[in-house]
Amino acid sequence: MIEASELPTLQGPRVSLRWLTERDVDALYELFGNADVARYWSCAAYADRAQAESLLRQVHDCYARHTLYQWGVTLDGDDRVIGTCTLASLDASNGRAEVGFALNRSHWGGGLMSEALRLLLDYAFGTLGLRRIEADIDPRNAASIRLVERLGFVREGLLRERWLVDGKIQDSVLYGLLDREWNRERAGS
Ligand SMILES: CC(C)(COP(=O)(O)OP(=O)(O)OC[C@H]1O[C@@H](n2cnc3c(N)ncnc32)[C@H](O)[C@@H]1OP(=O)(O)O)[C@@H](O)C(=O)NCCC(=O)NCCS
Repeated sequence: MIEASELPTLQGPRVSLRWLTERDVDALYELFGNADVARYWSCAAYADRAQAESLLRQVHDCYARHTLYQWGVTLDGDDRVIGTCTLASLDASNGRAEVGFALNRSHWGGGLMSEALRLLLDYAFGTLGLRRIEADIDPRNAASIRLVERLGFVREGLLRERWLVDGKIQDSVLYGLLDREWNRERAGS
C-alpha cells in the first residue's frame, strides 16, 4: 500500500486524478447532491453541505488506514473537481478492492470516466499490485454497466436485494476484473 501522506496524482491525456482537500468540499457537494448522479448510488443525494465535509473527513481517515483511496477527477488545465474515482474495501492481504466512480451530470457521455478508470486500474494492478477489482452496480445503471464492460470487467452474478437505499430495496450486479485480464486488455488497445 502507499506510504506517502497523500495519494499521488495520476495524469491522463484529458483528466487527472488527485488528492482531495478542504477546497473541494463545494465541488463534492455539487457532485453528490445531484439526483441523477445519486440515482443508483448506495446512499441518497446529499441534502446538506455538511455531508460533503463528512465525506472528505472519511476519505482522509480511511486513506490513513488504507481501507479506501478516493481521488478527485479534474480536467486538464482546470483544478476544479468534476468527479471522483475510488478504490474501496481495499484488502491488501487478498489483493483486491472495489471500484467506485461518479462524474458531474454536465460531463457525462464524453468518455472522461473511461479515461479516469484506465488510470485507476493501471495504478491498482501496477503500483499497488492488486489481483482483482470488483464493481457492484445497480442492474438499471446502464451507463455504469456499459462503462465497466468496455473496460473488460466480467459479469459474475446478480446479488438480490443487496441494498436498502432511501427506503428502497435494490439488487446488485457484481463485476470482476483480474490483473491478467487487464494486462491483455492493455496489450490489445
Ligand atoms: C457512470 C458515469 C461515471 C459514466 O461517466 P461517462 O464519462 O459519461 O462515461 P463514458 O462516457 O466513459 O462511458 C459511458 C458509456 O455508457 C454509455 N451510456 C451512457 N448512458 C447510457 C445509457 N443510458 N444506456 C446505455 N449506455 C449508456 C455511453 O455511450 C458510453 O459507452 P460507449 O463508450 O460505448 O459510447 C456517469 O454516468 C455517472 O457519474 N453516473 C452516476 C454515478 C454512478 O452511478 N456511479 C456508479 C456507481 S456503481
